[in-house]
Amino acid sequence: MKQNLIAGNWKMNGGLAANEALLHELQQGLARALDSKHAQVAVCVPAVYLSQMQQLVMGSGIDLGAQDVSTHEQGAYTGETSASMLKDFAVRYVIVGHSERRQNYGETDAQVALKAQRALSAGMTPIVCVGETLLEHESGQTEEVVKRQLAAVIHANGHCISEIVVAYEPVWAIGTGKTATPNQAQEVHAVLRAQLKAATPHAERVHILYGGSMNAANAAELLSQPDIDGGLIGGASLKPADFLCIIAAAAR
Ligand code: PGA
Repeated sequence: MKQNLIAGNWKMNGGLAANEALLHELQQGLARALDSKHAQVAVCVPAVYLSQMQQLVMGSGIDLGAQDVSTHEQGAYTGETSASMLKDFAVRYVIVGHSERRQNYGETDAQVALKAQRALSAGMTPIVCVGETLLEHESGQTEEVVKRQLAAVIHANGHCISEIVVAYEPVWAIGTGKTATPNQAQEVHAVLRAQLKAATPHAERVHILYGGSMNAANAAELLSQPDIDGGLIGGASLKPADFLCIIAAAAR
């Protein structure tokens, strides 16, 4: 059975001193917890801290992730960060298509697919976020929306699709304290798994993470679902004790 993957999404939080303190606590906690080796752990940090974090995670077993990547390889794109730049800092994971980027920066399915492609070509694993808004949820469009979002990435990435990570993050659950019930989440994860199966014989290998107010109290039940292979954790990843609890719940 594949290990669960627990990835922290720090969003636009952190600072040199705070990052160091957080990492220190995480490392101490992981060293104490015997089960830590049974879950993969990553932290997706703001790009400006990648250099600092590359040093801090060294030898800790924690992988480094970024939160976005440019659709372009290089050139006159002020403010952007390319996949090869991320790769210079030993980045393993790149979040693409987070709902905050889709909503606040107008990212389209096609751009998200291209970002996933850029990450894969540079040898990194894109964490492709999909998820419906509250309106879409309430009007019964969840399945249609997540399938459309994932289809764009499958279409652009062909046989490499088994190398991605998918994160199902219902937008109405992000940062709100509202979580999808384990059954609700499992239902959507099963839809995504079936879609991956139609695209690759290696769909079982793909981690499908749940994200959206996952915390120390609800992690175990969510992670016990057959198609939930880990979590993408926002708020709770900034609190070492909570993040460690989620990692412990993910050990299997
Ligand atoms: P949350 O964020 O855990 O704070 O809801 C999850 C995410 O946005 O990835």
